[in-house]
Amino acid sequence: PCLIDAEKSTLVSLCGKVAGHADVTGAEALERLFLSFPQTKTYFSHFNLSHGSPDLLRHGGKVVNALINAAGHLDDLSGALSALSDLHAFQLRVDPGNFRLLSHSIQVTLAAHFTSEFTPVAQSAWDKFLAAVSEILVSKYR
Ligand code: HEM
Repeated sequence: PCLIDAEKSTLVSLCGKVAGHADVTGAEALERLFLSFPQTKTYFSHFNLSHGSPDLLRHGGKVVNALINAAGHLDDLSGALSALSDLHAFQLRVDPGNFRLLSHSIQVTLAAHFTSEFTPVAQSAWDKFLAAVSEILVSKYR
């Protein structure tokens, strides 16, 4: 992704702060997704979607940890996300439009909890990063 150096460093720095709270951060982003865009719940009909449920925390942790890992591989995002790309394209077949919605919910969650860190540079960094990740996760659709 075409992040400038200042964006890369804010991205990596905020990832470091989120790392200890991956599950709650991810669960909140998912909850925001499901409340704001209820149609996205259809992919998770097998989950308990009530506030703070173990399903939300477990899955939220997986998503955020995958993002933290990807942020550590900005020079080879496709390689870092290859398995997840296969999963979302061939098994889950999530409608590509949903990635923008989740990316938005993640940014709102970060903005709400990391007020001073979520500067314009940081916002731009996350926007580009999440767009690049989403692009890769939908790249294998046939
Ligand atoms: C599973 C990451 C976008 C629906 C997963 C897993 C990860 C992940 C790490 C677990 C894989 C495993 O267990 O091996 C991401 C990332 C996304 C993204 C980083 C974009 C930033 C989406 C979107 C949807 C979605 C937009 C649908 C609205 C699912 C579903 C599963 C899944 C249904 C399987 C859940 C289960 O049954 O455990 N994703 N995902 N993902 N993802 Fe995504």
